[in-house]
Amino acid sequence: MRNWLVHGLAAGFVVVGATSVIAAGDPLETRKTIMDSVAAAAGLGGGMMKGEIAYSPAAGKAAIATMAAASHSFGSFFPAGSDAGDTTASPAIWSDAAGFEAALAKFAATADAAVQASGKDGPADVDAFKAAFGPIMGNCKSCHEAFRVKK
Ligand code: HEC
Repeated sequence: MRNWLVHGLAAGFVVVGATSVIAAGDPLETRKTIMDSVAAAAGLGGGMMKGEIAYSPAAGKAAIATMAAASHSFGSFFPAGSDAGDTTASPAIWSDAAGFEAALAKFAATADAAVQASGKDGPADVDAFKAAFGPIMGNCKSCHEAFRVKK
């Protein structure tokens, strides 16, 4: 458990360092940058699933760990009043808090199951990776449709 968290955070910080400077204490920047790390992990994992990036168990494990770390931290950065400003978070996050919690819990459950399946060295081959990573990718569209607005 501890191991994937550390790896996941490390992977997240690489993305953060490469793409943006965090305004201290701004939950909008934090949650958007966590989602950017999710998008980066989706790019890595999706690229390996499609055969555009050579599969490696270590990279598979890293993509899964990033998803797991994000799924457990993302929900902490939606304080009341943070629906305004440069954000695509939908007001439904606050008006249907239970629904948002459920979407977060499903995201975390699929990511945790993938961590379990990934073992010490990562999923052994691309088929094992697809079986673990596919269900994580099944969360993006449904959560965005319910809890994100188009701008
Ligand atoms: C539990 C809900 C949820 C899930 C699951 C989820 N997202 Fe998001 N995502 C959001 C919300 C809410 C925002 C808007 C954040 C904001 O603008 O404050 C967002 C924003 C984003 C952004 C824009 C970030 C930015 O810099 O503005 C990207 C890219 C993204 N998500 C990719 C993904 C991908 C890829 C997946 C699936 C692997 C995914 N998301 C899964 C809720 C979710």
